[in-house]
Amino acid sequence: MSSAQKSFYLTTPIYYVNDAPHIGHAYTTVAGDFLTRWHRQKGESVWYLTGTDEHGQKVMRTAEANDTPPQQWCDRLVEEAWKPVWKHLEIANDDFIRTTEPRHMERVQKFLQGLMETGFIYEGKYEGPYCVGCEEFKLPGDLDEGKCKIHSKPVEMVSETNWFFKLSAFVEPLLEHYKKNPEACEPASARNEVVAFLEGGVSDLSISRSTFNWGIPVPWDTKQVVYVWFDALLNYATAVGLTDPADSEGGKFFEKNWPADVHLVGKDILRFHAVIWPAMLMAANLPVPKKVFAHGWLLVGGEKMSKSKLTGIAPSDITNHFGVDAFRYYFMRAIPFGSDGSFSWEDMAARYTSELANDFGNLASRLAAMVEKYCDGILPAVAHDKALSNALQSTVNQADAAITKLDFQTGINVIMDFCKTVNGYVTAREPWLVAKDPGRKAELDEILFNTAESLRALAVLLHPIMPISTTKLWESLGASQSLGAIGAQKISDVATWGQLSAGTRISKGEILFPRLPELEN
Ligand code: MSP
Repeated sequence: MSSAQKSFYLTTPIYYVNDAPHIGHAYTTVAGDFLTRWHRQKGESVWYLTGTDEHGQKVMRTAEANDTPPQQWCDRLVEEAWKPVWKHLEIANDDFIRTTEPRHMERVQKFLQGLMETGFIYEGKYEGPYCVGCEEFKLPGDLDEGKCKIHSKPVEMVSETNWFFKLSAFVEPLLEHYKKNPEACEPASARNEVVAFLEGGVSDLSISRSTFNWGIPVPWDTKQVVYVWFDALLNYATAVGLTDPADSEGGKFFEKNWPADVHLVGKDILRFHAVIWPAMLMAANLPVPKKVFAHGWLLVGGEKMSKSKLTGIAPSDITNHFGVDAFRYYFMRAIPFGSDGSFSWEDMAARYTSELANDFGNLASRLAAMVEKYCDGILPAVAHDKALSNALQSTVNQADAAITKLDFQTGINVIMDFCKTVNGYVTAREPWLVAKDPGRKAELDEILFNTAESLRALAVLLHPIMPISTTKLWESLGASQSLGAIGAQKISDVATWGQLSAGTRISKGEILFPRLPELEN
C-alpha cells in the first residue's frame, strides 16, 4: 500500500454557538482560509477544518434563555448564521465539525476510555471558581475582585466529585517539547507565556461535570458529562478519524492528516491549546500538533471586541459597505498577525481607496481600456521585460517565505509593492504618448503585453486573499481558456513570464473596487 502524501492540515477554533459570528471569529477564519488557499496554490494536499463548539453551560444557558432545547438552538444557529457567514466570506473549508455529531461524540468516548485504561484518569473532588463565559476553572490570579478578568462577570463556585486528568504529569514533557521545538508555539511572546505558566506548576484537570447534562456522557459514569473544553479540543482529531482502526478508511485519513500543521487560535485560548491539548495527545501516545499560533485581538475602544460587551460587529456590517474581498484583505493587511489591532472605518476606507481601488483596480481597468482602444481588445504579441520579471520573481520568493510563516502583513505588502512597480512601469513608459506615433507600434504592444502579464501574476498571487475580484480579473484577461482556473495556478509558476497568449480577447469587465459611495445600498 502506498502511503498517501501528508496533508497540510489547518484548523480554526470551533466557535461557541451562543450567538452569530462577529468579525473576531471571521478574523481567525479568514486567516485560515488565506493560508490554506495559499498552500493549495503551492500544489500541496490541504485539509482546512472549522466548526462549532456546542456543549457546555454557556450554550445550554443561552438556549434556555431563548426557550429552545439546546440541540434545536445549535441546529438553527449553525444553519442560519454560522455556515451562511462562512459562505458569504468565501471560506473554502474542507470540513465543518459540530461537537454534537455522532462521529465526534463516539470518538471522544473511545479516546476517554483509552486514557482511563492507561491510568491517566482518576476520581477526585473539585472545589473552586468557574467562569461560564470562558468555560474555565479559574485560579486566584485570573480574578479581579471575584470577577473573571476576560468577561468582567462574577465567577461561580463549583464543588463536585469529578473525573480528573493527570495534567501535572506532562509539565516536564511539555517544557522539553517547547525547548526542542520552539516553532510549536508562536509567536515567541505566546511561547514565553506558555513556558512561564508551565514553570509555575500545573494542577490536574477536572474533565467532567455532574450538575447538568448538556454534553457527552462519560462512558463509564453516564451521570457525568465530559468537560466542554476536553470535548472541544478533541474535535481537531475526531474530525479526521481519531481512534478508528489503522486499516479503516478513518484510520487512513487520520494517518494522512495527523498531526495538524497549524492550530490557529486567539491568544485568549492559548493555554488550552498549548498546554492541555498536547498533554492529552501525549497521554494517548499520539503526535502533538506541529504549531499552535496565537493571534491577537481585534479591539474596539481599546478592549477585546465581544458580543457579551456589546461591541460585536457582524461581518455584514462591513461587507455591505466595502465588499467581501476588501474585508478579507483589510484585516490581514492592516494588523500584524500575532498582535492586537484596532478596527477603524477611516483606516479601512483609506486603504480601500489607495491600495485596492487606485493601485490595483485602476491598473486592471487602465490595461483593459488601452488594449480596447489601441488593439481592438486583442492582446498583442508576447513580450518580455527583464526588470519587471526580476521584480516578480523576488516578489514571489518573499511573499511565499512570509506567508508560509504566517507573516501575512509582509506577504501582502510585498505583493502590493509589485503592483506599485507595475503602475510605475506604465507611468514611465507613457503608452498614451507612444500610441500617438504609428512608428512606435511595437513598443506600444510590448508595454501592453507586459502590463497584462503583470496583472496575470497579481491575480494569481492575490487570489488566496481576494478570491472574488481576482477571478473577475482572470476572466477579463481571458486567462481561463488558455491557462485554466485561477485557483489551479501554482505559486511556483507565477514568475514564469509570457503565459498569456497573444491574440486573447481582453474584456473590460466590471470595476473591481468601485468608489465607496457607489457601494452603499
Ligand atoms: N469554543 C471555544 C474554542 C474551542 S477550540 C477547541 C471558544 N469559542 S469562541 O466562540 O469564544 O471563539 C474563540 C475564538 O474566536 C478566539 O480564540 C479567536 O480565534 C476568535 N475571537 C473572538 N473574539 C475575538 C476578537 N475580538 N478578536 C480576534 N479574535 C477573536 O473560545
